[in-house]
This record gives sequence, C-alpha cells and structure tokens, in this order.
Amino acid sequence: MTDKPHKPVHLAAHFPGVNNTTVWSDPASGSQIDFASFAHLARTAERGLFDFFFLAEGLRLREHLGRIHDLDVVGRPDTFTVLNALAGVTGKLGLAGTINSTYNEPFELAEQFASLDHLSGGRAAWNVVTSSDAFTGENFRRGGYLEHGQRYRRAAETVEVTRALWDSWAADSLVVDRQAGIFAREVPETRHRGAQFDIAARFVLPPSPQGHPVLLQAGDSDDGREFGAATADAIFTGHGTLEDGQRFYTDVKGRLAKYGRSPDELKIFPAATFVLGETEAEAQERARHIRLQQVGPQTAIAFLEQVWGRDLSGYDPDGPLPDVEPADNPDITRGRVRHAKDPRAVAEAWRARAEAERLSIRELIIEVTARQQFVGTPALIAEQIDTYVQSDAADGFILVPHLTPHGLDEFVDRVVPELQERGSFRTEYTGTTLRDHLGLRHPHHRSTAREGAKAS
Ligand SMILES: Cc1cc2nc3c(=O)[nH]c(=O)nc-3n(C[C@H](O)[C@H](O)[C@H](O)COP(=O)(O)O)c2cc1C
Repeated sequence: MTDKPHKPVHLAAHFPGVNNTTVWSDPASGSQIDFASFAHLARTAERGLFDFFFLAEGLRLREHLGRIHDLDVVGRPDTFTVLNALAGVTGKLGLAGTINSTYNEPFELAEQFASLDHLSGGRAAWNVVTSSDAFTGENFRRGGYLEHGQRYRRAAETVEVTRALWDSWAADSLVVDRQAGIFAREVPETRHRGAQFDIAARFVLPPSPQGHPVLLQAGDSDDGREFGAATADAIFTGHGTLEDGQRFYTDVKGRLAKYGRSPDELKIFPAATFVLGETEAEAQERARHIRLQQVGPQTAIAFLEQVWGRDLSGYDPDGPLPDVEPADNPDITRGRVRHAKDPRAVAEAWRARAEAERLSIRELIIEVTARQQFVGTPALIAEQIDTYVQSDAADGFILVPHLTPHGLDEFVDRVVPELQERGSFRTEYTGTTLRDHLGLRHPHHRSTAREGAKAS
C-alpha cells in the first residue's frame, strides 16, 4: 500500500442507442423514444447516486452501402428537450448533453445550457464535440466546410464566447426591488471579435447555479486532447482498458500544468459496459450471449465492409475472411467515425489473427470490436472498477447498458452497494450541483481565489 489518497469512484449512465452495443432486438428491450424510457434510466441512475445521465449526439442517420443503416437503433428526440424534461423528474442527478460546436452558435449554446442549469438547479453539463464528417455537415447551411484543425479552433472560440456570456452578468444583477421599481441592474455588453465570431451581445440570463455548466470533451486526436486539457472539466474516452486507460490518463493530466490547472480539475471517464452473474462462469456465459446478439451475422459483414470498402454480402459470416483486397472506399459507411486509416494494413492484421486463432468472420468481429467490459459477480465488478480508479486508469466510468431502459437496474441494485462497502462510492449526495458531485470548484470561486493569490 502507498500513501496515495483513496479516490472516490465517479459513475455516469449513458442512455443506450448508439452503435451495436444496444441490443434492440432483445425481447426485454423497450422504446428508444418514449419519455418513460429516459425517465426510468435517469431515475435508476439517481437511485444509484450517479454523478450524471449522458446523451450522445447523432445528427445524421448513418448510411451503409447507400442505404440507412438499419441494423442499429435510429431516431432520437432532441437532447435539450429530453434533458429539460428529465430535470423535472430528478432532483440531484447531473444532466449531460453532447452538442457539437461546429454547427451551433455560441449565443444559442450559452442560452440553452444556462437554461438547463437554471431549470435543473445546477445540474447541466455540455459534452463539446466537433462532429467528425462533412456528411453530417450537409445538414447545415455551411455544410462540412471545416477541416479538423479548424473545427477545434472553432470549438475553442465557441467555448470562450459561451463562457464570456455566462460571466457577463454580475452576481447581484437581479435586484427585484419592488419599492424602488428596479428589476435588474444594467447588463454589460459582451463584445467578441475573433476568427470565427464577431459578436456584440447582452446575454439574456443571470448567472446559473453552476456559473459554468460542466464541460466534457470527447475528441481523441492531439488537438482534441489539447482542447480538453485547456478547457474541459471531464473527458469522455474510449480508452477503457487498464494499460490503455493509464496511458491516456497520464497523457491528458500531464497536459494540464501548462494551462495552470491541477490534475483533479479534469476527470477522466472511459466508456464501459458490464455483465453481471451469480458466478463468474455465469457472467461469462451471459457476456458471450450478449456479444452474439450485438454482432449478428449481418452486423459482422457490415463491419467487415467498412474496412474492405466493398459489398461483401456474398460471404458467409461463419466462414473465413475474404481473400480479396480492400477497395479503400471511405464512402461505404457514412456518419460514423472511420478508424481504419489504412484498410489494407487492417485487413492483413485481421486475416493473420483469424488464421492464428481459427476465427470465422463473426468471431473475429466480436473480438476486434470489443470495448471495455466488466464481467463477473457484483463483488468482482466493484473490485475491478475500484482498481481501475485507484490505479489511475480512470476517475470513473460512463456506463453503457445494452438494454433500454432496464439495463442499469441490476448494476444499481447489486454493484453500487459493493462499491459503497469498499468505501469508494458515496452513500448519499452531499451537494446539490453536478460540480459538487464531481468535486469541481465553482468557476467564480476559482477566479476569486486566484485573484486573491495574485494580490497577496
Ligand atoms: C468517446 C467518444 C465519444 C464521441 N461521441 C460523439 C457523439 O456523441 N457525437 C458526435 O458527433 N461525435 C462524437 N465523437 C466524435 C468527436 O466529435 C470527434 O469528431 C471525433 O472523435 C474526431 O475528432 P478527433 O480526431 O479529435 O478524435 C465522439 C468521440 C469519442 C472519442
């Protein structure tokens, strides 16, 4: 044992529906659109004393081979509408929405997130993403004109302007003096002239309970990590295994000092799924069954086609990998981040692995698309999660259940008590805002402290 302080585990709940993680074909799967589904998952997360509920964003229906990709869930109500409605049926849970900074204006974003923060009593969070493709950009007037670096410059300026608007009202701006007949003091104009925006605005809302709604970021490139280190309160990442998580954690936290920030000002949340069982063997068996549901025969072929860039529907998912070479057609799948930068190298590596381990197409895709997954008895999963957090692979996890809306129930009933038993997870909410839950300071308190430090 070292003298390292014991870190609290942070947990968040991802509403299912993204990619093939969600098993919509399971008879136990409910609606992806009914408000009751959102409300159930959020209330379950709050019952489990989670930090926040999380929504991803997909603004264009994915296409595969020129058709809507109908193997995964499609159709999702607007993020702000869902989160504001959830504010009415929850009391403590943070409410996080993924909203891109490429197609939105800072003034609107500032108003929308400040409104959510006011209406929820300080529980709003914004996962700032830049969106990955011109295909989604075609939805918008200036469709897809921003290249990668430019998207991050726009993201940084969007956050800068948004925060300036949030900060523009003095804390005592609302007077509401009935006798004197004064409702509010003068609100100064926010002027910003930059490469992306030229704005002169009087913001429409007084400071919200958190001052700045919590900011998450999810891009993984060097630009993305730098943007996160400079501006975010938390990062949502796919780096979820122990070693990969530790590398990512060290890298991103190591970038904070140059922005005058300390490591505990940025929390790291990898995505993770989980499968429980009464015994380890039972959990492994359930996990295997779920992976087969997630990667059905058609899904296996579709994944292969993404790398091969061509129609492979003639191949048997239970047979060997194709011997034809990839065609490098990046447009075969649209609306999804493409990770196979060099399809030929990926195909070669996959063929070698399939041959060495005697895997069929479907078995191989099950292996190569596996994400961080905690599988075992409730006690074992609690121990694993705690170990990851204590060994600096994460500050907590955004859990992605595979079923809507009941996929989190078992975790809250059985794993949360084990984490509490270990002394690693709260037994009640001690604060009211999401900043409180995450152990983050109010931004205005921080600037006051810094000014004080400078003056002394
Ligand atoms: C863990 C994770 C989650 C993401 N979630 C979303 C999302 O919900 N909506 C979206 O448009 N982009 C999402 N993105 C994509 C980012 O917006 C970004 O466009 C993409 O990762 C490319 O940026 P990068 O090169 O910095 O990684 C996500 C990325 C990561 C790594």
